[in-house]
Amino acid sequence: MSRIALPQYLADASVAAELQSIIIGLAEVSADISIALAKGALAGILGAAGAENVQGEDQKKLDVIANDMIKDALAALPAVRGLASEEETDVVPCHTSGSFLVTFDPLDGSSNIDINSMVGTIFSVLPHTGDATVTEQDFLQPGRNQSAAGYVLYGPSVMLVLSTGNGVVMFTLDQDTGSYLLTESDVNIPAEAKEFSINMSNQRHWLAPMQTYISDLIAGKDGPRGKDFNMRWVAAMVADVHRILCRGGLFTYPWDSRKPEQAGKLRLMYEANPMGFLVEQAGGEVWTPDGKILDIQPEHIHQRVPVILGAANEVALCVDYHQR
Ligand code: F6P
Ligand code: MN
Repeated sequence: MSRIALPQYLADASVAAELQSIIIGLAEVSADISIALAKGALAGILGAAGAENVQGEDQKKLDVIANDMIKDALAALPAVRGLASEEETDVVPCHTSGSFLVTFDPLDGSSNIDINSMVGTIFSVLPHTGDATVTEQDFLQPGRNQSAAGYVLYGPSVMLVLSTGNGVVMFTLDQDTGSYLLTESDVNIPAEAKEFSINMSNQRHWLAPMQTYISDLIAGKDGPRGKDFNMRWVAAMVADVHRILCRGGLFTYPWDSRKPEQAGKLRLMYEANPMGFLVEQAGGEVWTPDGKILDIQPEHIHQRVPVILGAANEVALCVDYHQR
């Protein structure tokens, strides 16, 4: 069966040439990252890097390796005006000719690395609207402005999931040729959910409405919802959201009273916005307790946000528990 390769898909979809070059550049470097990941302990790349990132989290060696590989790949593209990474303290100016800014989480779910479980690379492409010198301010655009967003999931197969604002498509890496081939073009999240995804061990630290909402899901057929729900948690946002794009459900990472000054765990510009763009493009909803995530005006590139996303009716109900 002949399948459509990524460059052909982008050309057929009339994606601007500069944007095509960025998406293809990210696809190519992710294929290289997947090779490094597959070597694992044999290449001596597992374990801690011995440093912390700007968010005070311990970096893994592979966080640093993947970050450097993506940074170098993007910096080589004339279309890239600047980049920002979860693992970089400051934004990195690139080419003054470029029309786009790229933000990325080089290796999402990196605590999974050492247990040989799923991780991913998440990216977001924004138009550059500022003047010649790139500053953090240029990146502070609502997620709604994204020109493209996507992720690469390093799982049993390597998949690129992408939206350029015209639905969501999925490609699978052909390990023999190194090219990404289109394997799913009709990605749609059903409005009703049968499954939810949350780190339950934090239950006692959530806001009361979130505790009540999740308790009602767990009460199943015997509770106010009158139906049973299944639960899944991979502990890599990229994998948990991938499941939601494949078979529906609700994902949430709520605010937590242990770090009251921190809005949530997930990052707005590297995680919530790109994943939110994909989920909305697949017919789902993406909220905080008080508004749509893609409408948030960012104040800082590393800012965090509570996230509720997935099945439209289920997200609306969860938000309603908070707003009652
Ligand atoms: O990037 C942060 C992250 O690793 C997400 O990928 C994931 O959803 C979450 O943290 C896992 O959190 P926890 O350690 O609470 O399971
Ligand atoms: Mn992450």
